[in-house]
Parts: sequence; C-alpha cells; structure tokens
Amino acid sequence: MNIGICGAGTVSGGLVRLLSKNEQLLEARIGKPINIVQIGSRNKPSQPEFEAFAFTDDVFEVAKNPSVDVLIELIGGTDDALALVRMALQAGKSVVTANKALIAQHGEELFQLAEQQGQQLVFEAAVAGSIPIIKVMRESLAGNEIGAVVGIINGTTNFILSQMSKPGSTVSFEQALAEAQELGYAEADPTFDVEGLDAAHKLTILSAIAFGTRLSFDAIYTQGIGEVQVEDIRFAGELGYRLRHLGITRIGPDGVELRVHPTLIDENEMLAQVDDVMNAVMVLSDAASQTLHCGPGAGAGPTASSVLSDLVDLCRGATIPAMGFLPGQAVDLPVLGIEQCRSHFYLRLRVADRSGVLSRITRILGDFDISIEALLQKDPVNDIATIVITTDQVVEETMNTAIQKLESSGDVLESVTLIRIFDFGE
Ligand SMILES: NC(=O)c1ccc[n+]([C@@H]2O[C@H](COP(=O)([O-])OP(=O)(O)OC[C@H]3O[C@@H](n4cnc5c(N)ncnc54)[C@H](OP(=O)(O)O)[C@@H]3O)[C@@H](O)[C@H]2O)c1
Repeated sequence: MNIGICGAGTVSGGLVRLLSKNEQLLEARIGKPINIVQIGSRNKPSQPEFEAFAFTDDVFEVAKNPSVDVLIELIGGTDDALALVRMALQAGKSVVTANKALIAQHGEELFQLAEQQGQQLVFEAAVAGSIPIIKVMRESLAGNEIGAVVGIINGTTNFILSQMSKPGSTVSFEQALAEAQELGYAEADPTFDVEGLDAAHKLTILSAIAFGTRLSFDAIYTQGIGEVQVEDIRFAGELGYRLRHLGITRIGPDGVELRVHPTLIDENEMLAQVDDVMNAVMVLSDAASQTLHCGPGAGAGPTASSVLSDLVDLCRGATIPAMGFLPGQAVDLPVLGIEQCRSHFYLRLRVADRSGVLSRITRILGDFDISIEALLQKDPVNDIATIVITTDQVVEETMNTAIQKLESSGDVLESVTLIRIFDFGE
C-alpha cells in the first residue's frame, strides 16, 4: 500500500515513527508493506524522521500523485484541507484524516463524494485521540440501539478543571490555563479548546454515528469553561458532585440533544474519575449497557495510533460505512435547543441576609413546579449570604423563567449561577 502524507507536524511525525518502529508487526498483520511515497507540507520539515522521504511543498501534488493509493490528511483546518480531500477522492484515492473540524463541517459532502468515487474516507483519529470510539460505535456496538453518548472529549479543559478541583484548591481558571500552557497541554491561543469548539466538532461526529443522523454542527449548543468559579466546584463537591466539561448527545421522543457545557456529575460515576488530560467516552446502549472508553485524547503517538488503525483497515480491504449506517440511510431528526433540554440544576444565589429570604426563594421555585433536591446555606459575609440549591429535573426554559423571577425578586443581589447536572440513570 502506497501512502502520501500531507502535513509534517505533530501527528505526521508520530505516524512516520510508528510506521517505522512497527514495520514488521504491521506486515505480519496485513500481509503487505505500507510505503510512504511522498510527504507534502508548506514548509520542508527539519525533523529527521521525514528526511528519508520524497518531499513536496505543494500538498496538492500528493493528491495528484498517481503512485499514492491513500492520502493521509494531517494539515488541519478546513480550507486547504477541504480542497485537498476533495481532490484526493476525485483522483480515486481513499483518505485517512484526523481532522474533526473538516468531518463535522464538511463530512456530508465528503462522504457522498467518497461514495460516488468508490473510495473511503476514514477518521478514527478525529475524535478522542487514541480511543477507538468510532470503531466501537460503528462496529463493536453495531447490534445495539444507542441511547446516549457522554464524554470528556477535550484534554485541555479536563486538565484545567482537574487542577481547579483538587482538594482545597484555590486555583482559578486563568491560573490553571497558564499551567496547561506551560506543560504544553494548551495552545498559545486556547480559544478552540476552552470555548468548547473542539469538543463540539467531536460530539457532532459521535452523535451522527450513534443515531444515524446527519452531521448537525450548526445546531450544537456550546459553552466553554471560562466562567467556571472554584467556589462552585467546592460547593458542588460538598453535595457529592464533580464538575466536568462534557459533550452530551441523547436521543428522545422529541429529537436529539447535542450539547457541550460544564456539567456536574455524581462523584461516584466512572467519568468523575477521569482526570487531567485523559479523555473518556461513555456509550449508553440497550444491550451492552454503559461502556466507558478511556485513553489519551491527543499527542503524537496516541493520535498516530488511530490514524494507523484506519490505514490497516484500508490495507485489509475493509469496507465499513464511514458513519456506521449505509449511505442514504441517515435520518433528519430535530436537534433540541438547549432551552428544550431537561436537566437537574445547580444554582448559586447571593442574597441579602434578611429574614424570610429562603422561604421566598423556595416559593418562587415551587411556583414553577421546581423541586429542590438539596440546599446549602453559607454563613453571610458583609450581610450577603450564599445559597446553593440543586433541583429535580426540569426543562431549561422553565428554569430560566424561574431564575428571571428570582433575580427580580429584590432578595437576589447578583445574577444566579447555573450549572447543569447530568444524571446517567434518566
Ligand atoms: N496534535 C494532536 O494531538 C491531535 C489529536 C487529534 C487530532 N489532531 C488533528 O490532526 C491534524 C494535525 O494536527 P497536528 O497537531 O499534527 O498539527 P501541526 O503539528 O500543526 O501540523 C500541521 C502540519 O501541516 C502543515 N500545514 C498546515 N496547514 C497547511 C496548509 N494549508 N498547506 C500545507 N501544509 C500545511 C503544517 O506546516 P507548518 O508547521 O509549516 O505550518 C504542519 O507541518 C489536525 O486536524 C488536528 O486537529 C491532532
């Protein structure tokens, strides 16, 4: 099998090293060698692992190269990458990519093109690095009806929240982010990660595979972790919760939930044990029940591992539908707006320290049929008391209306802090 690699960065370097290190193993597994016939990137790489291969500074040459059977797209982004993948498919080459943004935003078009051309477009590395979650859902769980997929799918945000959540921690979001940058876990511009866009791309892909729907990146609700306060992590901890930045997709009678946001989960849940830069994806399905898939979500080796697994599939002649459903079978299900989603909620309120406040607050919530599950009242500081409430499940629109009522009641002094709670049993 002759391959051309586009991009000469982190993942490409990992792939080249892995192909060389495990050359014999791979040949024993697939019965033929994998030859790198060309590497393309906009600048000639200085890393020694690339030296042995023919190089071009025009990635489109790789797509046109008649000796290349499979193009590995590792340049990232959605402009040149889209043109490159289109060109490779049109030239009769299958494509392996690690590019979540490309698949989430342009997958519909590209899978159709691949189908027309009788080629494959595969993307295991696009979601959760080393974790073979695409194959798990598409293949190992193919006999199941999947009800929900919930995951920690961005290592940067998980690292930051882990630092902020350590016992007795006073580390702010900004401090934890600076540490993540020092350790190389966050980019100099961390926007994509901390605002949840990276996770949104990944969840869009997972949701479409889980439920056989179209890729609905435009409809996803995304909230990052920049507003998270350490005191909320601490108060929620007192009530038995851990905070995670989760991607949640769930199917119900009214449509599909598709949302990325900071979420409280019971401290005994498996996902609550996943710390630092690790990723983990839980799939809830009818026969297999709850399965948790955990591993490094980024880095040269872990990501190359997934790229290579796709390549091995292609070498073996596997022809599994890229999104797990036969072409033409994807259904259009409505994606629920966040206001239509039902959740339990954590609320933190700053209130004037005067008599009767608590009963007035509970009465307002009661007027909206919102049941309180737990309540913490903190000692007042400068005549301002902090009240933390967790509620039973309620539609978010109702909760928002109740919060508006609370905020205009005269007792509540600041905007109410709201964090959604996810209950795996419901
Ligand atoms: N790194 C990870 O842990 C990880 C994990 C999962 C998925 N991914 C995905 O894997 C892909 C590659 O990531 P990476 O971390 O390896 O990126 P990277 O280290 O930045 O490498 C990208 C390479 O592509 C080249 N390049 C970028 N844009 C190009 C263009 N328009 N034309 C030609 N060459 C171009 C870059 O050249 P210059 O360096 O000269 O600019 C560089 O050699 C991305 O889609 C990313 O989302 C990465």
